[in-house]
Amino acid sequence: MAHFVWSSDLDTGIDVIDDQHRQIIAMINGLEDARRGVSSTTVADIIEQLVDYTISHFAFEESLMEEAGYVFCRAHKRVHEVFIKRVESLRTRFREGENVTDELGQTLGRWLVSHIRSDDRNYVEVVNRNLKKITSDHSHEGWLARAKRTFFGRRG
Ligand SMILES: [Fe+2]
Repeated sequence: MAHFVWSSDLDTGIDVIDDQHRQIIAMINGLEDARRGVSSTTVADIIEQLVDYTISHFAFEESLMEEAGYVFCRAHKRVHEVFIKRVESLRTRFREGENVTDELGQTLGRWLVSHIRSDDRNYVEVVNRNLKKITSDHSHEGWLARAKRTFFGRRG
């Protein structure tokens, strides 16, 4: 599997989201390196981290949409839920000894890229407007930092 290459059209313009999307892509590329044996981290470790991080990212993104009062938040959440089931079943198969490393990386990478270009694009305006409000209103100070801590712990 070739490495996924980030292109600027994948940037939503919401820095905190773009950083997380880039991180997921970097982890998928790291998985490929581990699969080829050119990484000191094991495939198993990367798969665990990659799936956990992706699930945390979805929860974080959902909290941004909720906070912004995005009208299609529930539908977007549903899309995440369905995909999480797919990825978790691949992780289970991997844990049971099946060779699904390539399939997992490809599935996640391809899905993410098309999801960013469609579903994610639709919330950008509303979320961005709300984030600007949150960060300029001092009573909300630290909301973003708190949300990061909640969903990522020290990995945010
Ligand atoms: Fe999303």
